[in-house]
Amino acid sequence: MTMLFSASIVTLRLFLLLVILSHSHVIMSQTTFVDENMVLTCPASINNINTSSYAFIHNVHSLFNRKLHSEAGNSLYYSATEGHFPDTAYGLYLCKFDITFQSCQRCIATAVKAVMKKCNGTRKAIIWYRECMVRYSDKSLPIMDTSTVLCMYIVRNVSVPRNVTGILAQSFKDVIAMPSLSSFSYATKETTISRFNTLHSYGQCIPVLSADDCTECLNKSVDWVSKCFIQRGTGFGRIILPSCNIGYELH
Ligand SMILES: *[C@@H]1O[C@H](CO)[C@@H](O)[C@H](O)[C@H]1NC(C)=O
Ligand SMILES: *[C@@H]1O[C@H](CO)[C@@H](O)[C@H](O)[C@H]1NC(C)=O
Ligand SMILES: *[C@@H]1O[C@H](CO)[C@@H](O)[C@H](O)[C@H]1NC(C)=O
Ligand SMILES: *[C@@H]1O[C@H](CO)[C@@H](O)[C@H](O)[C@H]1NC(C)=O
Ligand SMILES: *[C@@H]1O[C@H](CO)[C@@H](O)[C@H](O)[C@H]1NC(C)=O
Repeated sequence: MTMLFSASIVTLRLFLLLVILSHSHVIMSQTTFVDENMVLTCPASINNINTSSYAFIHNVHSLFNRKLHSEAGNSLYYSATEGHFPDTAYGLYLCKFDITFQSCQRCIATAVKAVMKKCNGTRKAIIWYRECMVRYSDKSLPIMDTSTVLCMYIVRNVSVPRNVTGILAQSFKDVIAMPSLSSFSYATKETTISRFNTLHSYGQCIPVLSADDCTECLNKSVDWVSKCFIQRGTGFGRIILPSCNIGYELH
């Protein structure tokens, strides 16, 4: 259980109109829940609930009902702690760089509601939506964390070049090399890949990550391009790690 998130890989395939088709691989004793908009993962609930567990669960609830929740909307990234050792709850959220504070707030509220329902009584959890990530733990959350990789994509029936994963990987490498990444913790790039298709790519790190760690984290995500986006005709995709994510949209 202390291995939560390590080497856990969830592959999510979303098809047109958000019908889920496929499989997920997760290490044992994890609860994984997937719907068309999100994926969450948490270990099995605490079995022998004792005073300490109750204190921790209470702290998670306060964290989400007060600190994290009330701060969402003022910032696209926030981390907070609640309670005293040994029952401290650590939490954070990250919203996609291009959404409004209002959308961020809505996304966080939805994520918090889902995670509290599905992961109630667990000592850690992480949840991703298309536009935000929320996590909590009874251990301090490392700033640089590449222990989990999630692939998410939607296939649209657009005609794409044969070498689409090569083109995607190159566009992500270009994004990672952009100087603006170190200033803003995100960068974007548009690539015309045919007369009809423009590829919009982005990379984003949690803003407290150093420029080097941001590059390293995003570099790791690029390694996953060919595993995540094997399908031709892919229209939207994300590769998500706890500390960074890359994504694209094909129009
Ligand atoms: C109480 O529960 C926590 C979390 O499951 C566990 O780490 C701790 O060892 C437990 N304490 C006792 C006294 O059983
Ligand atoms: C979490 O579990 C506790 C105890 O089982 C229960 O009282 C509480 O209502 C649950 N909370 C949510 C949000 O499901
Ligand atoms: C995708 O489009 C092609 C040509 O426009 C069509 O033949 C094919 O049936 C479509 N596939 C799906 C899954 O809609
Ligand atoms: C695929 O595209 C990438 C990036 O544009 C390029 O470096 C690579 O050589 C291409 N591979 C093939 C087989 O065309
Ligand atoms: C990231 O990858 C690029 C090559 O794609 C390499 O030049 C750079 O040193 C890597 N940076 C880190 C921090 O891993």
